[in-house]
Amino acid sequence: MGSTERDLATDLARIIRATADEVTTGRGSELIDRVTGHLAAPLTEVVVVTRNWPAWEHANIQRGVEAYLAEHGTAVDWFGIAGGQRTHEDLIGMLVIARKQGTFELGSVDYTTTAIGPEDATEAVQLGLVGTSAPGGEPVLVAIRGANPQWGQMECRLEVLATSRATATGVRDRVERLMAEHDVLRGQVLAFGTSENRGNDLLTFLPRPTLGGEEVVLPDGVLDAIEQHTVGIARHGERLLAAGQHLKRGLLLHGPPGTGKTHTVRYLMGRLPGNTVIILTGTAMRFVAKAAELARRLQPSVVVVEDVDLIAQDRSYGPGAHPLLFTLLDAMDGVGGDADVTFLLTTNRASELEKALADRPGRVDLAVEIPLPDAVGREALLRLYARGLKLTADLAPIVAATEGVTASFAKELLRRASLLSLAARPDADVAVGDEELTTALREMQEARSALTRSLLGSSAAQ
Ligand SMILES: Nc1ncnc2c1ncn2[C@@H]1O[C@H](COP(=O)(O)OP(=O)(O)OP(=O)(O)O)[C@@H](O)[C@H]1O
Ligand SMILES: [Mg+2]
Repeated sequence: MGSTERDLATDLARIIRATADEVTTGRGSELIDRVTGHLAAPLTEVVVVTRNWPAWEHANIQRGVEAYLAEHGTAVDWFGIAGGQRTHEDLIGMLVIARKQGTFELGSVDYTTTAIGPEDATEAVQLGLVGTSAPGGEPVLVAIRGANPQWGQMECRLEVLATSRATATGVRDRVERLMAEHDVLRGQVLAFGTSENRGNDLLTFLPRPTLGGEEVVLPDGVLDAIEQHTVGIARHGERLLAAGQHLKRGLLLHGPPGTGKTHTVRYLMGRLPGNTVIILTGTAMRFVAKAAELARRLQPSVVVVEDVDLIAQDRSYGPGAHPLLFTLLDAMDGVGGDADVTFLLTTNRASELEKALADRPGRVDLAVEIPLPDAVGREALLRLYARGLKLTADLAPIVAATEGVTASFAKELLRRASLLSLAARPDADVAVGDEELTTALREMQEARSALTRSLLGSSAAQ
């Protein structure tokens, strides 16, 4: 069932239940009086229109409802429901029980806090109702319910109570439009994940990295090509579209571990400040369809899929026998060419993807190799990671002796040299000379375990 059909089915079930309950006349309830008083109709004539969203949309529902209330300028007077186990029941269920048994009573609003940025959170109604009016002036009640994973309620919910379905639907649609206008996810850096203790799905806000171009050491022209295909297309989006060109792009960064694929992705995030970034790594890969949906909604946007080789063979989450990779490729295709969406894929085993990508052309339109640094690169890396210290060493012999190492090896070399300097002169400024660098390099190359050596990314040392 689609979500609309499901909504309709639950609405019908509720109406039927409410009608069935009509025969038993309960005692008076302030809560019911508040609802029926505002709607000027008995409970049996109340229609509820519901829409559920993933838990991470809670702040958006709050924003949408607040904007709606501001627009309809009525006195904003939220009320809640007091009484045992109210988290189990749906709203009409609660009201019906309230009327029959007096279990639920008028109470204060439950609030919760929900993130709206890497550093910011907002208060949101966890369970509460507010009376307002529909665009046509009819009285309606709007209710917000937050997700409640402890009780198995994984989604958050907007409910609109009115005396006609059209009225309730109209209000819900307007709130939804306002949610889109005030979307708190737009322009953010977001990562999918799963909460360890509750097992519920999470969308986490991350700070946007800000790296300077000089911090990314790549062979001449490589970063330019990458920027051209991402930032460049973004900059000329409207004109490209007008010229009949598609905007959606897929970029694959491939190369050995530790050469700067993730580093480059982080740099690009900083170069696309207005873009929404959605990051998928590890087990979060199973959110790929949701990520593509969000990317379309929040465009201009970037979907980052790290270590995509991990899903090339993984059939555990994909539908049927298809590996998850095909789900990703389908999602990439489904976004539509006119969408200003960039897919950034990284892998250190491009060969494993080649066939799947070749079989489904058009998803990845640029593959860029991020190679091991050459001599010029190694020297630049050593200088880059020596920026904060006093470097007196002659780099030429170090550069010559580190052929085949990764960028992250060069970074670690400087850290070890700094530690040697600090060990020898704890109170002086950190200074790295020939001795610190050669000793650090010897230590790293002599690293006794082969595992340590390969972790450091040094083929030359093997
Ligand atoms: N080209 C580079 N220029 C500057 N620093 C780099 C570069 N490559 C790597 N580094 C440094 O090494 C760290 C590790 O590199 P990064 O995580 O980008 O490697 P990767 O290519 O993504 O590797 P993997 O395939 O294992 O994911 C970076 O955070 C950065 O500090
Ligand atoms: Mg990486």
